[in-house]
Amino acid sequence: MKTQVAIVGGGPAGLMLSHLLDRHGIQSVIVERRRREYVEKRVRAGVLEQGTVDLLIETGVGDRLRREGLIHHGIELRFDGRGYRIPLTELTGGRAITIYGQQEVVKDLVEARLLAGQAIHFEVDDVSLHDLDTPLPVIGCTLAGSSVRIEADFVAGCDGWHGISRGAIPATERRIFERIYPFGWVGILVEAPPSSEELIYARHSRGFALHSMRSREITRLYLQSDGHDLIEAWPDRRIWDELHARLAVAGWSLTEGPILEKGITGMRHVVVEPMRWGRLFLAGDAAHIVPPTGAKGLNLAIHDVRVLADAIAAWYRDGSSAGLDNYSATCLRRVWRAQEFSAQMTALLHRLPDDHDGLDERLQLARLRQLTESRAAATALAESYVGVFPAESLDGNH
Ligand code: APR
Ligand code: PHB
Repeated sequence: MKTQVAIVGGGPAGLMLSHLLDRHGIQSVIVERRRREYVEKRVRAGVLEQGTVDLLIETGVGDRLRREGLIHHGIELRFDGRGYRIPLTELTGGRAITIYGQQEVVKDLVEARLLAGQAIHFEVDDVSLHDLDTPLPVIGCTLAGSSVRIEADFVAGCDGWHGISRGAIPATERRIFERIYPFGWVGILVEAPPSSEELIYARHSRGFALHSMRSREITRLYLQSDGHDLIEAWPDRRIWDELHARLAVAGWSLTEGPILEKGITGMRHVVVEPMRWGRLFLAGDAAHIVPPTGAKGLNLAIHDVRVLADAIAAWYRDGSSAGLDNYSATCLRRVWRAQEFSAQMTALLHRLPDDHDGLDERLQLARLRQLTESRAAATALAESYVGVFPAESLDGNH
């Protein structure tokens, strides 16, 4: 099999890359390990930055997003038994975030790919990468029981945190930065209308809690758990009791409902540098993981593939490799900015296990109060949250 761009992984990064390439008239093949239903049902992130929304709409895959996405103009910070609103739109010259589940983005992209007649192969096994440092890289895999070779001009490693692409860069050619937090998040999806119009990030001495949503009928809730906790440590009643306690403010109550899904995730930072080796380009979670407190994971993945699609298109159009050569540096600038914001939000809102004398708690509260009293401090948070990063606002690079 021959194609122009061979893509490993059919998550948001791989699907969006294939979609953007198609719009440049460039052919691609996606090989995805899981079944289509699995990829479309996996509940993940849900906050889209304005830039992400604009790109999905501009490129023709935003119709359902426009109909069903919930536009939010602010978020709430809760601490000390009170809530304080950060008016995102007012502080960022009109920007907003949109709540729309990652799996809905995935569904829309899969549908668009199939309608466009582009190849997505699901349930592909034994993916291996070869000759990445030559002009003719090759993917080997097993497709419906047969061994297949896919020859391409480029390979995009969009296979997420558990993928194989990252490991295809020789250890001597890359650096991996990693930090694991000693806590995680228990997440539940609940059949109940959200208890508040906006997202609530709560700092509490019992630990962090987050009220989010997927629609007007479905609430998404998270709470900080210990790093070594298994989900078995969190029966439903314990989850609700903790959520009620951590989110409590006078005159407000959390609506309970049947729990549709329950999971636990670790929290970490990971960055691989560079994001390119020869003809292999890493994008999305394959190259970087952010702790979810900043809601940046999906947005970074979409940003990477936008940069990559433009670079590949320029190479086919006029033989220019400048975009490809700059790919890693361009993406990493935004990635590190998002890592820094996510680290800041994580440190601000979580109970830190080594805080024996309460110093960290006092520092967190001082910083939270500043966010509610200083417009400059609130503006900085709002800009990062909606995704106004220097790469976009100062030098016009996307
Ligand atoms: N071969 C083929 N496919 C693979 C392989 C492999 N060896 N390993 C992993 N995959 C597939 C996974 O099954 C998954 O569908 O690659 C896909 C990677 O998708 P995601 O994990 O969703 O990663 P990405 O597309 O980069 O999207 C990043 O996901 O974790 C969230 O918060 C994160 O929102 C961000 C988004
Ligand atoms: C979510 O709705 O899943 C969500 C929202 C905000 C976050 C992380 C996750 O910071």
